[in-house]
Amino acid sequence: MQLKDKTAIVTGSAQGIGKAIALTLAKQGANVVVSDVNLEEAQKTSKEIEALGVKSVAIKCNVADAAEVDALVKQAQAAFPTIDILVNNAGVTRDNLMMRMDEKDWDLVLDVNLKGAFLTTKAVSRIMMKQRSGRIVNMASIIGVMGNAGQSNYAASKGGLIAFTKSTAKEFSSRNITCNAVAPGFIETAMTAKLTDEVKENYRKGIPLGRMGGPEDVAGAVLFLVSDAASYVTGQVLHVDGGLVM
Ligand SMILES: NC(=O)c1ccc[n+]([C@@H]2O[C@H](COP(=O)([O-])OP(=O)(O)OC[C@H]3O[C@@H](n4cnc5c(N)ncnc54)[C@H](O)[C@@H]3O)[C@@H](O)[C@H]2O)c1
Repeated sequence: MQLKDKTAIVTGSAQGIGKAIALTLAKQGANVVVSDVNLEEAQKTSKEIEALGVKSVAIKCNVADAAEVDALVKQAQAAFPTIDILVNNAGVTRDNLMMRMDEKDWDLVLDVNLKGAFLTTKAVSRIMMKQRSGRIVNMASIIGVMGNAGQSNYAASKGGLIAFTKSTAKEFSSRNITCNAVAPGFIETAMTAKLTDEVKENYRKGIPLGRMGGPEDVAGAVLFLVSDAASYVTGQVLHVDGGLVM
């Protein structure tokens, strides 16, 4: 139980990759704050976590809203003595070719995927700085590294998140707080369920390991980055993509 008595906040953890991360950290003994805009599903995830014998609370929070993020961190602090791990996982897509992309779809994706990570990191950093320890993991994407037609908003948000990760790592390193990013490739969740079978097959052909990933593949990388095994790792981007980008 390498995370016994640690507390993790995982944003967007009602379903998909975030849920897998929350369960994986809980299996290693962490208490988990399950945070999402979808409170009903977050509560279900929280119940599954408690069944593993650790503590969990579900808190509704839109990460793009500063007041909601501050309230999330206050409630987490009231429930648990320390906040040791923050996983900025909440993310959305609003794909379209640039010519057809509405300004509101640009703003939404940047607000959730990039500003959201800034707001949560800022709110949690005060606590981690006092503790003189902390682990932050940002959920980027290979799209933030290689770009993608029809995803200029998403690529900009994830590329920005990678730059934000490196800046956070440098700014907080003297307080023993690490910050890393995970860049998943094509992972089977609700987000990629929208893709047609033909598109998925085309992507699959380009993946050296020959398959799409599962949420638990990403969760394993996050577990490494928040564990003692990664105490000398900061400012890095760990690709979890079956070898797609190398
Ligand atoms: N699935 C993939 O192939 C893939 C690849 C690369 C990166 N990612 C990233 O992984 C993360 C998780 O994606 P997923 O595939 O599990 O998607 P998903 O849609 O299944 O889950 C996203 C979760 O985030 C929540 N959410 C959305 N907006 C929110 C907000 N404003 N505040 C709080 N929560 C919010 C949703 O309710 C949902 O529970 C995202 O950041 C995504 O960009 C996914």
